[in-house]
Amino acid sequence: MTAAFRDFCSFLHANSGLVIDGEKKYLVESKMRPILSEYKLADLNALVAELKRGTNTKLIDAVVQTMTINETFFFRDRQPFDKFKDVIVPDLVKKRTPGKTLRIWSAACSSGQEPYSLLILLDQMRSLLGTRKFEIVATDLSNSVLDKAKEGKYSQFEVQRGLSTPLLLKYFQQIGDRWQVKAEYRSQINFKQFNLLNPLMGMGRFDIVFCRNVLIYFDAKTKGEILRKIRSVMADDGYLLLGASETVVGISSDFLPDGDHKLLLRCQGQAGTRERATESPALGRSSVVDNMVKHLREPRPGAPAARPLASAKRPLQPSASALAAARLK
Ligand SMILES: C[S@@+](CC[C@H](N)C(=O)[O-])C[C@H]1O[C@@H](n2cnc3c(N)ncnc32)[C@H](O)[C@@H]1O
Repeated sequence: MTAAFRDFCSFLHANSGLVIDGEKKYLVESKMRPILSEYKLADLNALVAELKRGTNTKLIDAVVQTMTINETFFFRDRQPFDKFKDVIVPDLVKKRTPGKTLRIWSAACSSGQEPYSLLILLDQMRSLLGTRKFEIVATDLSNSVLDKAKEGKYSQFEVQRGLSTPLLLKYFQQIGDRWQVKAEYRSQINFKQFNLLNPLMGMGRFDIVFCRNVLIYFDAKTKGEILRKIRSVMADDGYLLLGASETVVGISSDFLPDGDHKLLLRCQGQAGTRERATESPALGRSSVVDNMVKHLREPRPGAPAARPLASAKRPLQPSASALAAARLK
């Protein structure tokens, strides 16, 4: 492994949690090729040197966004959404008095198909909800996918992936050859930039968390830390849903599969004794870039310049400026 590749991997892991093994050098090089050409950089060495300078925040953002995988579609895998409609919401409606708000977090929402699927289901369950309100918070690391999610505009191909024609016609309007979620529905989702490696503060408590198809990219330690943090912002009777190939087994004892519905994870224990979830400001848009710059510029005392993945302790140390500047708006 070359020093430049090791630095690149270490930097990406520390700031997005993504783990790249030594065999994937070709993948990194091919993914970085358009960026090298756009920023007129000769090779990976030049890219890492530029990242280390830390002045080009656009470049840093572009590198993270290119390396993360944003694949998603409406009602992905169907079953979690059926459980949401048939089991979770009816159960929580029984437990929450009228007037309460059900809070749902789509924790790596990519371009928005997941939270819009949840919104459609909740909209169709209004009579069951009665006077209970709901709030959907949808976050992702990547600003470019979030911009798309906020705009809610999808190609014909994208809407065909998971949406029936009646749902398409009810919730979207056609604009040229694209389909946009109607404004009255778009405004019901609170989209924010958030890095799952950062402290989960100022988010309030959630009844339901969808954290699907993102843990798969992290190492076991990072997965465990993220699950612990998620538990700390959940109601004790809350539900967590992971991706089809993701599990808590051997990683976290904060959640257990629901007896009858193995797919659903129920919170274990009480959250009150864990992280204090609501007392400090949360990180926002600038945190990713700030952290990358910090990581490259200021290796922690005693840390080697190019920190090997295996020795990475806490993957993220938010900078003071990120903490001060970034708040979920
Ligand atoms: C494969 S998509 C999953 C989208 C959706 N949850 C689904 O299941 O269809 C993974 C998303 O995780 C986001 N992601 C990767 N690392 C992240 C991190 N550290 N914090 C927050 N989001 C992250 C990526 O930007 C990407 O949009």
